Amino acid sequence: MKAWRVAETAGAFTLETLADPLPAPGEARVRVAAVGLNFADLLMRDGKYQVRPDFPYTPGMEMAGVVDALGPGTTGPAPGTRVLAYLGMGALAEAVCVPVARLLPLPEGMPFDHAAAFPIAYGTSHLALGRKAALAPGETLLVLGAAGGVGLTAVEIGRRMGARVVAVARGAAKCAVAEAAGAHLSIDSDTPDLKAAFKALGGVDVVYDAVGGAAGEAALSALRPEGRFLAIGFASGQVPQIRANHLLVKNLSVIGLWWGGYLNFAPEVLDASLRQLLDWYAEGALRPHVSDTLPFAALPEALDRLAARASTGKLVISLQP
Ligand SMILES: NC(=O)c1ccc[n+]([C@@H]2O[C@H](COP(=O)([O-])OP(=O)(O)OC[C@H]3O[C@@H](n4cnc5c(N)ncnc54)[C@H](OP(=O)(O)O)[C@@H]3O)[C@@H](O)[C@H]2O)c1
Repeated sequence: MKAWRVAETAGAFTLETLADPLPAPGEARVRVAAVGLNFADLLMRDGKYQVRPDFPYTPGMEMAGVVDALGPGTTGPAPGTRVLAYLGMGALAEAVCVPVARLLPLPEGMPFDHAAAFPIAYGTSHLALGRKAALAPGETLLVLGAAGGVGLTAVEIGRRMGARVVAVARGAAKCAVAEAAGAHLSIDSDTPDLKAAFKALGGVDVVYDAVGGAAGEAALSALRPEGRFLAIGFASGQVPQIRANHLLVKNLSVIGLWWGGYLNFAPEVLDASLRQLLDWYAEGALRPHVSDTLPFAALPEALDRLAARASTGKLVISLQP
């Protein structure tokens, strides 16, 4: 089979031929149909992600495809079942072996590009806004990086939870994408005085920060008493510096969330959340935004687009003819 590989830190993505993997007991082999790309694919390649791979490794965190074999003694989704899974790494290959407990069947009619783009983006925003921040109807939610992969799902889910959603994104086109996903209003992140623009909102209850840096710090200062700041990611490359005395004086909470980390200590939380989200998808309540689907051979070009902030929502690699 063909698989994308990275040989060293910050190395090139190269397409190689590997042996087809054989499923072990408890595993299914899945023919990969589509892979969702993530900013973290770049961080991992560059040695800047919280998970450090052993080189050489196969990148790709999440995928959708069709089960084609089960390991010895394994009962699980029958060959032919359409599934999605979060893998962490290894998805950018024509076939992968996955523990059957990690596979989720696709709702009828869900295309593979929606399925591959689904788990990380929706899962992160669902757990962050619900379980962690307890966003309540009528509260104001400020989303940084609102036209990106996770940010756009925060807009969509926040709106569904009844919040007043304010999106922050760079330029009119990205602001329009965030408004189409449900934001009540948007703020261009190139606004010269972002801190003043956030303050003018009259108080924010929850900040969803996928960007960090100065924008994250400005958003923190716009929180009203008992506000919650969700530290989701640092796409700007800068970790916001947060002063504990400010938290005390305004009764603020800062909440970290690493969605994939739940696999290590409470995988059932991810599973229940994804099943809920797939039900919402099946009801037509969620509309994944995939700005581009590129062929398997175009992975380096697709990741260049992600790094250049040229995508909105998700980028997907398709392995289908
Ligand atoms: N905590 C978790 O479990 C979790 C899960 C998924 C992702 N994340 C993190 O969340 C962040 C976003 O991930 P993603 O996959 O949604 O990425 P993405 O699709 O590339 O979105 C990132 C957004 O950040 C904005 N941005 C601001 N400064 C940037 C810069 N210097 N370089 C690139 N983008 C910049 C961009 O929007 P503008 O051009 O509009 O500024 C872009 O739309 C990453 O840090 C990722 O590691 C965390």
